[in-house]
Amino acid sequence: MLTAARNEMLTRVGPGTPMGELLRRYWQPIAGASELDGNPIKTVRLMGEDLVLYRDRGGRYGLIDRHCPHRRADMAYGWVEETGIRCSYHGWLVDQTGRCLEQPYEDTTSPKPSKAGCETKAYPVKECAGLLFAYLGPLPAPELPVWEPFTWRNGFREIVLADVPCNWFQCQENSIDPVHFEWMHDNWGARMRGADGNVAPKHLKLKFEAFDHGFIYKRVREGQSEEDRYWTVGRVALWPNGFYLGSHFEWRVPVDDENTLSVAWFFMRVPKDREPYVQERVPTWISPLQDETGRFITSHVINQDIVAWAGQGRIADRTKEHLRSSDIGITMMRGRFFEEFEAMAAGKEPGGIIRSANEAQCIALPNMARELNTEGVTLAEFDKDPILRQRLKEFRHHYGQPAEVRREFVEAMGISG
Ligand code: FES
Ligand SMILES: [Fe+2]
Repeated sequence: MLTAARNEMLTRVGPGTPMGELLRRYWQPIAGASELDGNPIKTVRLMGEDLVLYRDRGGRYGLIDRHCPHRRADMAYGWVEETGIRCSYHGWLVDQTGRCLEQPYEDTTSPKPSKAGCETKAYPVKECAGLLFAYLGPLPAPELPVWEPFTWRNGFREIVLADVPCNWFQCQENSIDPVHFEWMHDNWGARMRGADGNVAPKHLKLKFEAFDHGFIYKRVREGQSEEDRYWTVGRVALWPNGFYLGSHFEWRVPVDDENTLSVAWFFMRVPKDREPYVQERVPTWISPLQDETGRFITSHVINQDIVAWAGQGRIADRTKEHLRSSDIGITMMRGRFFEEFEAMAAGKEPGGIIRSANEAQCIALPNMARELNTEGVTLAEFDKDPILRQRLKEFRHHYGQPAEVRREFVEAMGISG
């Protein structure tokens, strides 16, 4: 249980709030690069700030104030040019550093018009593994961490976004919540398929460990032992707002205090006989969350998670909860945030930030599926493993995979539709 004041500290993300300041110190995934292939301008709201993301014709990414520095028109209705984005109201041209490059009327009528003071807010953007990451904190920006899976080859990658109607922190608490797998995904999943009874193997033992880039949780369920990778390796609640499960990442990116952008990046190694495989473009798609009646879609794994997240309310009221031993990881994670707030207030840099370019190049994380993803298996081996076979059959994480993404996947894997 938390006091209302401490709950606010964990959940408020606007500029100047403890959490808002902390999250701004880390690169945040905000879009798929392929989203800009059609329309090169996308509106984004991040931690309460309204912005536009764009790719100019020179291939540079920009993330600037949604409102024009001239008289505040909506830059989303502008257009991109070789060196920036131009407002459609009076034609001011702004670049990715926020500099105003052109003011057409002034440029025509005065000999040397100064543009000093007409800069707009601008944040750095970097592309990695098909994702666009933005940094909203004080400069100089730290290195963008290149997690090891971003360097893997011979894989089919896809990015799935979802607009989740609740605060980011309850989504992130789900990253360190092993027991929910048994109930939400296994037992509830089975009930929805008609089972009568709780059929899932029970959790028998949990362990949570802290490291620089977050927390590792480990578990033993009925039918498993401490020799199992779920215990010897575990999964990662990635600091500060991610989740890493071996073949995919999820991030819970705050849109504002009451909304979250769920960003998930998936990797699936192609069967050995399909190598070498080079994916030219990482597709990005948006998962719909509700059916036509307004009820949440419950058929897919992350859609089920979202039922839990949004079900806790726009901002979960943690003054009314009852934490037990299954929630030790949640307490550890909250504790680290409170410690980091204090460290930041004392002028220190929060943990897990990388300043060395060398170190940032390829960061390994505990991974239960490393061989599968780095060495690969044959199609025949896929067929022998029930989980892998299922992954080939359908995309189970998010509802609504577009037919063209499925087609690209089928083609990459060399299987029939
Ligand atoms: S408001 Fe954008 S150029 Fe005038
Ligand atoms: Fe889940």
